[in-house]
Amino acid sequence: MIINRLIAKNWRNFQQIDVPLRERQFFVGPNASGKSNLLDIFRFLRDIAKAEGGGFQKAIKDRGGVSKIQCLAAQGEPKVEIEIHIADTPEAPATWQYCIGFHQEKHQDGHACLTYERVWREGELLLNRPDTEDNEDPDRLIQTALEQNAANAKFREIGKFLRNVKYLHLVPQFIRYSDAIQGKIIEDDPFGQGFLQKIASAHPSTRRARLKRIERALKLAIPQFEKLEFVRDKNTGHPHLQARYEHWHSSKTTHQEDQFSDGMLRLIGLMWSLLENNSIVLLEEPELSLNLGIVAQLAPLISNMQKDRQCQVLTSTQSDTLLIEPGIDGSEVILLIPTKSGTEVKPSSDSDAVCTLLKNGATVGEIVLTRYPKEASLLEWN
Ligand SMILES: Nc1ncnc2c1ncn2[C@@H]1O[C@H](COP(=O)(O)OP(=O)(O)O)[C@@H](O)[C@H]1O
Ligand SMILES: [Mg+2]
Repeated sequence: MIINRLIAKNWRNFQQIDVPLRERQFFVGPNASGKSNLLDIFRFLRDIAKAEGGGFQKAIKDRGGVSKIQCLAAQGEPKVEIEIHIADTPEAPATWQYCIGFHQEKHQDGHACLTYERVWREGELLLNRPDTEDNEDPDRLIQTALEQNAANAKFREIGKFLRNVKYLHLVPQFIRYSDAIQGKIIEDDPFGQGFLQKIASAHPSTRRARLKRIERALKLAIPQFEKLEFVRDKNTGHPHLQARYEHWHSSKTTHQEDQFSDGMLRLIGLMWSLLENNSIVLLEEPELSLNLGIVAQLAPLISNMQKDRQCQVLTSTQSDTLLIEPGIDGSEVILLIPTKSGTEVKPSSDSDAVCTLLKNGATVGEIVLTRYPKEASLLEWN
């Protein structure tokens, strides 16, 4: 399953968004255009679905309250709204639709309050709040049905799907020095502190299969690279990754993860997460610390990791090199265009100018980022 349509209103720097989404989707825009804010909508839905982690109220609190979420450009509109369509493919009609609206209610002891919450399955309305019980006891509106097992029996599949959303912003030093740092691991480990432990706890045959697949990709991306193995320290039992290289001047060299380059570590972490996940992976500017040759390989690599499995990959990027691959379709790139009344969000294929250039052999990367945002004519929508 994938989310094939996202609608949001009054969310941070977006007054209104309504965009179709593909299995592989890139969000492109200049600094502070809202790429991270957009990815955060999916994390927000995940946080709501995680009842044991605090659900709706914690998701709001972690973001500084409703007032920090409401779009400053929306001039005091109190209601924030999110709607997602979940389907088997980008073109398929929605199997599930989930939507919520919420606002800050003054007499709710500082709690955020649901304005509505609705669920449809194949077009049939399964949940429509506020319902009679909510009207009798408005305090119920501080919790979503999504986060309550007793209330979500008919649509538990949505919660299961959203709970698996994975946000990744890997920091190589955290992976490399996780033992030495031994700090508190942030919820869901977006920075990769627990990455080696995660590899260690995978079933041995799953681990072998995933590392083999990563090894094949690394062989293409890194010269002299030959083998990737999982090993444990003989004395401490700590898990390690070990890479073997073939060098022209000596026969073989092995390195452990503390000697891997930043780029190689990020790449391994990224590929592992793509192989592990069967829901949505959110990649925050994955081009960081990768050399350009590898960045140009990321888009096909994402497709390769998606083969035989259903996993949607939503990537924020500022890199034209990442979008240079000719296989990227205009609809796979969503442009974030800052305006005075908030950021507008459109698939690049909505622009006739972009479509014409694509037909004439240009790649999305060449069109979108090298001219963006100076040549506004490309971004005038038809
Ligand atoms: N509630 C809000 N209303 C309007 N703008 C907001 C709101 N919250 C944050 N922003 C703006 O969003 C921008 C940051 O967006 P971000 O997603 O971090 O950008 P990017 O990831 O593209 O660099 C900042 O300019 C910030 O002022
Ligand atoms: Mg950002």
